[in-house]
Amino acid sequence: MKGIFPIDKFRQLRTPFYYYDTKVLRDTLSAVRSVMDKQQNYVVHYAVKANANPKLLSIISGYGLGADCVSGGEIRAALQAGFPAGKIVFAGVGKADWEIALGLDCGIFCFNVESVPELEVIDKIAADKGKVARVAFRINPDVGAHTHAHITTGLAENKFGISMHDMDKVIDMARGLKHVQFEGLHFHIGSQILDMGDFTALCNRVNELQDKLEARGVRVAHINVGGGLGIDYSHPNRQPVPDFQAYFATYRNALKLRQWQTLHFEPGRSIVGQCGSLIAQVLYVKQGAEKQFAILDAGFTELIRPAFYQAYHKIENITSDAPLQTYDVVGPICESSDVFGKAVDLNAAKRGDLVALRSAGAYGEAMASGYNCRELPKGYLSDELI
Ligand code: LLP
Repeated sequence: MKGIFPIDKFRQLRTPFYYYDTKVLRDTLSAVRSVMDKQQNYVVHYAVKANANPKLLSIISGYGLGADCVSGGEIRAALQAGFPAGKIVFAGVGKADWEIALGLDCGIFCFNVESVPELEVIDKIAADKGKVARVAFRINPDVGAHTHAHITTGLAENKFGISMHDMDKVIDMARGLKHVQFEGLHFHIGSQILDMGDFTALCNRVNELQDKLEARGVRVAHINVGGGLGIDYSHPNRQPVPDFQAYFATYRNALKLRQWQTLHFEPGRSIVGQCGSLIAQVLYVKQGAEKQFAILDAGFTELIRPAFYQAYHKIENITSDAPLQTYDVVGPICESSDVFGKAVDLNAAKRGDLVALRSAGAYGEAMASGYNCRELPKGYLSDELI
């Protein structure tokens, strides 16, 4: 065992695979739980898209969280893992008819509606079933977040949500429909946000909108502020549990929640990010003219974030204590973007060494693909490897 990894167990498994440290996950969930216990009007829905591994989902549902789903498949996965339907929210700009029907059949808490045509389809499908769908409108707050351009979602230019200027019109329209019930407002400004000021800016915008609605006599039962809390990719061991105290305190202080309202959150990355590592093996060390490459048996098929978002994941050689050397760490996929990191300092690597790509619990396994006819990676929990 070097550091936090059970190397002997790893040696018995076929690489690459995901390894989830359940202690980190449970510590993270306990931190969230303790806030929920104090703030009874806070409801936390885990964003299933971050990681839908059934074993992780079961642990997360065990802590009393709800689920934030973006597809019929995620709704099914959430139900199977024990999340109650009454705590499932269903978001997404392109909900298919069968997915809406599924949400209605199982009685989910709320549809987060992103457009007028979608509202009309939900009303029609609900009418056919003789049901009433609870809906919240996802409002695009036009609030920027200090994060990567690919993962900011709250700006006017993004495809998400309904423009603030159309909000009144859409709410009035919903109130005229018989098979939808207007319940709440939904927001999400982006992901991997570490500056609490961004969330404060969202709160200020929500306060403004709420004041306007109140002046028109519109009562909103719940506010959903989405997810977005970031994690420390540079130092996975320094702060394995994100600062939920500061995060929730920002909302407690800046958001003027009405006393009848519930406040909903949809964290994904902050729940599962730090508990997961992608474990790969060094296949070859190749000397180039100017640099050396550590070629792994994992590539962007297992972890796409570096190739897709130029995201940083800390890379460690977990089976070597030899002095540091510098490598470009790359995968086996036939694409030049299949690079995990350039000029990475690793303990000197040789064929057969095991490498951990840290902080990969969120949007890692969930975004894996079968490109090049590769097998999807398996995920193992630390509990299983004792
Ligand atoms: N709610 C909504 C409406 C969302 O769109 C998202 C994420 C979340 C909640 C959860 O956000 P989180 O707490 O995880 O930041 N694949 C990208 C991230 C995409 C995030 C998409 N939406 C990545 O690997 O960085």
